[in-house]
Amino acid sequence: MARILTGIQSSGRPHLGNILGAIQPAIELSRDPQNESFFFIADLHSLITIKEGSQREEYIRAIAATWLAFGFDTDRNVFWRQSRVQEHTELAWYLSCFTPFPMLANAHSFKEKSERLSDVNAGLFTYPVLQAADILLYDANIVPVGKDQKQHLEMTRDIASALNRQVGKEVLVLPESRIDEKLMVIPGLDGQKMSKSYHNYIDIFLPEKDLRKVVMKIVSDSTPLEEPKNPDTDITYQLYSLLATEAEVAQMRQNYQNGGYGYGHAKQALYELFMESFEEPRRIYNYYMENPGELERKLEEGEEKARQIARNTISRVRQALGFGS
Ligand code: TYM
Repeated sequence: MARILTGIQSSGRPHLGNILGAIQPAIELSRDPQNESFFFIADLHSLITIKEGSQREEYIRAIAATWLAFGFDTDRNVFWRQSRVQEHTELAWYLSCFTPFPMLANAHSFKEKSERLSDVNAGLFTYPVLQAADILLYDANIVPVGKDQKQHLEMTRDIASALNRQVGKEVLVLPESRIDEKLMVIPGLDGQKMSKSYHNYIDIFLPEKDLRKVVMKIVSDSTPLEEPKNPDTDITYQLYSLLATEAEVAQMRQNYQNGGYGYGHAKQALYELFMESFEEPRRIYNYYMENPGELERKLEEGEEKARQIARNTISRVRQALGFGS
């Protein structure tokens, strides 16, 4: 039996990149009866950027509702908020003492911001250590993530190996990342990686009119409507290809190459595809956002399960490090 684990930061509402890059592939893996799945909300990580409590609460609900909207079976698996299982922070401390400074200084998450060090808090710098603790606390074997998380997974393995070497046994299980090469990095409205921090994301749970407005903002070049267009360099076409059937993609490609088909037409088709593909998730998402008590109950049940497993791992680590168990 393989243990699958992944998390989403509650630093914004979940976007299409999170859904296609992490949530859907993870839920697909969780359907295999051979697997046991651990999906959580990385709310401690969100404190790095979000300081406002009520905003965090809303984002936590939105991420939780998204997991359920895409069909995560919380009865058979484990679903929780990171902040409700204190062992995450305890293990993060132990791991931080096995993490070389240059490793953290090389992390993309830190380097991206290191030009303006006054904006960097210690949480951002040590972020990969908390992430390693999230994974190692549950003896995860497989971590489905988007490509941007690859380095964090390599660091997790390095930190765990360093601790194992020190104590002379396999106290921590080395996880593997699972990155769907076909999906790789989902582009945002401007063609850069779709990201909360770049403000270029598509929130598929927006009310219909608002979602359509966002889709219409996707950047396109200025080729006139009548002229043929290159589908391979167009963001709308790329996003459409991720969700449409092979026949629909072939038809869209033809439309681009024939000319007489504008970017506005393509965006309308993409919007309609979103509405069709996400009809059921949108319904379930709205249900849970309107019934936060049910969401809370599911999380609390999951947190009970998560705590038991976390306590076992921590006691193993404490013993190995000479803190007693
Ligand atoms: P976060 O919240 O930034 O993103 C959550 C997941 O979504 C994927 N993702 C994308 N995939 C494809 N294209 C995109 N444009 C895109 N944007 C985001 C991410 O790769 C990720 O899989 N540090 C993590 C959260 C975390 C975590 C963990 C993940 C905390 N602890 C333990 C796995 C295991 C993060 O900030 O992801």
